[in-house]
Amino acid sequence: MRSLKVSSFENYTEVYNYSVSHPEKFWSEIAENFQWRKKWNNVVKWNFKEPEIKWYEGAKLNITENCLDRHLVLNGDKPAIIWEPNDPDEAHRVLTYKQLYEKVCQFAHVLKNNGVKKGDRVCIYLPMVPELAIAVLACARIGAIHSVIFGGFSAQSIADRINDADCSLVITADGGFRGPKDIPLKEVIDDALVQCKSVTKVVVLTRSRTPVSMIKGRDVWWEDEIKKVETMGKHDFPAEEMDAEDVLFILYTSGSTGKPKGIVHTCGGYMVYAGYTFANVFQYQPEEVYFCTADIGWITGHTYIVYGPLSQGATTLLFEGIPTWPGPDRFWDIVDEYKVNILYTAPTAIRSLMSFGDDVLNGKDLSSITKLGSVGEPINEEAWHWFDEKIGKGKAPIADTWWQTETGGIMISPIAGVTPTKPGYATLPLPGIQPCLVDESGAIIKGNGVSGNLCIKYPWPGMLRTTYGDHERCRQTYFSAYKNLYFTGDGCLRDDDGYYKITGRVDDVLNVSGHRIGTAEVENAINMHADVIESAVVGYPHAIKGQGIYSYVILGSSTHNDKELVKKDIIKTVTRLIGAIAKPDKIQFVTGLPKTRSGKIMRRILRKIAEGETSNLGDTSTLLDPGVIEEIKNGAF
Ligand code: WTA
Repeated sequence: MRSLKVSSFENYTEVYNYSVSHPEKFWSEIAENFQWRKKWNNVVKWNFKEPEIKWYEGAKLNITENCLDRHLVLNGDKPAIIWEPNDPDEAHRVLTYKQLYEKVCQFAHVLKNNGVKKGDRVCIYLPMVPELAIAVLACARIGAIHSVIFGGFSAQSIADRINDADCSLVITADGGFRGPKDIPLKEVIDDALVQCKSVTKVVVLTRSRTPVSMIKGRDVWWEDEIKKVETMGKHDFPAEEMDAEDVLFILYTSGSTGKPKGIVHTCGGYMVYAGYTFANVFQYQPEEVYFCTADIGWITGHTYIVYGPLSQGATTLLFEGIPTWPGPDRFWDIVDEYKVNILYTAPTAIRSLMSFGDDVLNGKDLSSITKLGSVGEPINEEAWHWFDEKIGKGKAPIADTWWQTETGGIMISPIAGVTPTKPGYATLPLPGIQPCLVDESGAIIKGNGVSGNLCIKYPWPGMLRTTYGDHERCRQTYFSAYKNLYFTGDGCLRDDDGYYKITGRVDDVLNVSGHRIGTAEVENAINMHADVIESAVVGYPHAIKGQGIYSYVILGSSTHNDKELVKKDIIKTVTRLIGAIAKPDKIQFVTGLPKTRSGKIMRRILRKIAEGETSNLGDTSTLLDPGVIEEIKNGAF
């Protein structure tokens, strides 16, 4: 068995080289750290053509036995989850491993009593409360496939996702709290379910106790269902035995075209990768309190609030609220109160908190922090230094972790305290990961001091297996651009030291406050507005969000010609179709869009104008109507 953690930079180099020269041995030794009911026949079988990727074939396991059962003997009384509510005046909750185990088992019974079987899809739309983690783990316990949907998505988005995955049961709450807002979750679900024939049951957790409709035969209360299980005296639930390659979950994410796709992760490989990367990157020590500020509705929450930390017997802090409510010192109070050792957050949160000034930090004891992490978007140097100096007090290494929903876990990142860091750099690949940069023609770029598109050459256990219900889309998106390589969609530079710096997406995917949004998705939503003829959406630099959404819109001839009101109507339309996270920040009305003679919108030009770089628009000779550019330039913000 090989330790999940490397111990020094020399050791990193040695282990990294071994992982490249003996990948199967390496991943087999890493997997020995987990509990399997039966070991694998093959470590990996793969080809990136179809693609077909199988890790630990023949192995049997249940991920919840790794996250719960195996900790009970020695660590049953250790806090597994510390929950901090949205409102600091409400009592916090602590669930020990033993308590979490019981709650997961009880809810597994509830799922079973409500007809859920192995392989069924379950949609989870809950606020950030412990029951969200419990619901996720209970699905995994019975072998049901969870599809968690972030609380900021609209009824229409939820319906699309439920229908794509053909979910039979939905788990939600009456409402949820986020900062000053009450979110009417059940009402949104009710609106979604009008379009969803597959859903026969809805389990509703009590959180805000806002009035909700409860439909006989379909809707049941979480608490009532638990009571039934308790009355029967049930505290255990034998975990379903899963094949390593059985599906664990689906998580939807945006691409450059069309609707979001369901990224599929499987039980064995994902478990190994989540546990390995968590232990190694954060160098987790048994007594440490770990706080990841993401939402479980995104991949970061799946891997680094739930599965990664729990598989390692860690104490994971789950926070319901937002960093700026009731004040911009919310995170620092949490760190102070629970003596958080590891803080993993996003550049957008760092930039937002920085903007309140350093007085906010006065009187907050942040001395417990020994390691920091950043994820989701490129971190600018100013934010990196602030995080380092003001939060880490110059003594907590920052792991700038690069990865994606598709990769399941961290790929390129400093290992805390081991890899020398460099502001703005994700630094080096973890042992087991083989990145490369390719040029436009698909040739691998050798040497250092080079830039290109970031690809991965060799499979890793946590990688996606398919996109749900549409394998061809998976092949097209990730495996067709460059032969025998996984294409990430990111641009990247490798400096003279061989250090990697992610420069951002090279496709039409935006990263707004660390949330992935496809420009095509936003355009489709804007175009649904009754008076919109055509639109084009691009990103532009935004001081806090990283990127903002800039939209150029051609209107028809409606009598509603108050432009400010029409803008609001368009925003409402997008909010209804996708959710508030996709709201355009800027809307510019135009009479035409720059197009090539073959009718393609020249986004390059629109991007430059949105960025305010109107002086050098590059070659515009292929434009159908160059005059349109002047008009757009003059009307730009
Ligand atoms: C971006 C989030 C720079 C990148 C885990 C990637 C980053 C996309 C970093 C995936 C980082 C993530 N530095 N860019 N440290 N981490 N990204 O699927 O463009 O929500 O492709 O996964 O976020 O976003 P996703």
